[in-house]
Amino acid sequence: MSPLATHALLRSPSPALTECQLLHLPRGRLDFATALRQHQAYAAALAEAGVAVTTLPAEAHLPDAVFVEDTAVLLDEVAILCRPGTPSRVAEVTLIRPAVAFLRTVGAIQAPGTLEGGDVLRVGRTLFVGRSTRTNPEGIRQLRALVAPHRYEVTEVAVRGALHLKTGITAPAPGLMVANPAWIDLAAFRPFEVVPVPADEPWGANVLPLNDLVLVAAAAPRTAALLRDRGLEVRLVDISELQKAEAGLTCLSLVYRERTGPSHTTAL
Ligand code: GLY
Repeated sequence: MSPLATHALLRSPSPALTECQLLHLPRGRLDFATALRQHQAYAAALAEAGVAVTTLPAEAHLPDAVFVEDTAVLLDEVAILCRPGTPSRVAEVTLIRPAVAFLRTVGAIQAPGTLEGGDVLRVGRTLFVGRSTRTNPEGIRQLRALVAPHRYEVTEVAVRGALHLKTGITAPAPGLMVANPAWIDLAAFRPFEVVPVPADEPWGANVLPLNDLVLVAAAAPRTAALLRDRGLEVRLVDISELQKAEAGLTCLSLVYRERTGPSHTTAL
């Protein structure tokens, strides 16, 4: 049984989103009002999945701050503050720190290491970490050292042609992965059943499992059908305007589980 997600941290998009970083997409016209509406609908989808959503205020001068997942890796025992691999995003980490430090003891990636949360996929006690243009070998080495005392193993995965590891692979259910094999070296995922996304839905692999639901981007209906065929309860969420900023469903939230006791929350 998967652990119960109880809470999520989001950050409202700012109008500066139109100046976001873009790695693999050309800059097109992004309608901010639509992006904001879609972000609100995304928050509602998380709430439907049983998660209490806290939306932090927009950061006017940080175009990519809406992508909160990249700023921290929230584990049950510890939070690792990331060090983004693109200079325009580094200030986001300072801004998320108070919210994360309220939830967990905090460690941090230091220069010259870089690591973004979109490159970290947790499956049980294993952290699959993408070596991407944003996450470098030194960042992965530091992450491994920071989580080893908490009994996590780190497995490095080569990412090519995608922004982050989770752009190209996620884990919708225990034992099951959905992936774009063109972007991700799947060698490390041999123990899993891997569902390849249809060729015309290259971004479909970024799905967000939350309690009994799996959120899938509305732009990936055939990927959604493949997951439904495996018995999963799927909700389509339209983030098409946010996807113009290279958004995925996972990168828009930091999800965790509240628990009772001295350290009062647990990451998923
Ligand atoms: N626009 C998302 C990123 O490049 O980090």
